[in-house]
Amino acid sequence: MTLKTYSAQFRLWHWLNAIAILGLLGTVLLRKTFLSYKTNSSVLVEELSKLDITIALEDAKTIAKVIRAPMWEWHYIFGWALVVLFACRIVLHIKDRPFFSLKEFRRLTTHHKGTQSLYTILYVLISVMVVTGVMLYFKQDLGLSKELSHDIKEFHEILMYVFAFFVPIHILSAFIAENKGEPGLVSNMISGKKNSE
Ligand code: HEM
Ligand code: HEM
Repeated sequence: MTLKTYSAQFRLWHWLNAIAILGLLGTVLLRKTFLSYKTNSSVLVEELSKLDITIALEDAKTIAKVIRAPMWEWHYIFGWALVVLFACRIVLHIKDRPFFSLKEFRRLTTHHKGTQSLYTILYVLISVMVVTGVMLYFKQDLGLSKELSHDIKEFHEILMYVFAFFVPIHILSAFIAENKGEPGLVSNMISGKKNSE
């Protein structure tokens, strides 16, 4: 199987995009586990009560959210990185390579037509994450109602599960393909050199 040709800019884009998405997923993981305000507010109430200090659950929640805030700032840092990367990707397509080439797609095996279609869906989902994320970030400036921003957040959150599912499967598939049938696939995405070169 001939490996695809990825330009240096494209390869760099892939790895920076991977870092941004892993970073975003990492912040979500921390928000939902170690830095969950629900868990940590109960811990605060319980531990303080052992010291004979009474604190209202609402106050404990406020403190837990304050503790979480510096970590969650990274969601915005990685989020804005993803926004910039997305814009760069559009420029790359305009300058270097068409968004979609039917001629190239037709040449692919059925398996690769499948993977390419999944990647296309992923690109669409990234664009949706970028748009909904930016809308949430500017919800006050945009004057979004409470209900609408709640719905956008729910949608943004549901889509997160697609990414949480895609990433391990993608990495596992790359390892499997590298060992079976497509040796040099990963180094091709790093160096751009095909194993036959
Ligand atoms: C964690 C976040 C990651 C995301 C979101 C991601 C996303 C993508 C996307 C969208 C493509 C398709 C490129 C195209 O348009 O043809 C791709 C290709 C590829 N990725 Fe990743 N990737 C990630 C991490 C990784 C990691 C950690 C590895 C290494 C094990 C890897 C190895 C590859 C390889 C080898 C290809 C080329 C596949 C091919 O040519 O069919 N990726 N990745
Ligand atoms: C793959 C990319 C992304 C994933 C997986 C992701 C995931 C999530 C999740 C799961 C939440 C809900 C957290 C919760 O309430 O428990 C969230 C909220 C949010 N995300 Fe993202 N996000 C991504 C991209 C972005 C981008 C590009 C931005 C824009 C800078 C962004 C900005 C926000 C904002 C502003 C919130 C609302 C935070 C709040 O109300 O406390 N996200 N994100």
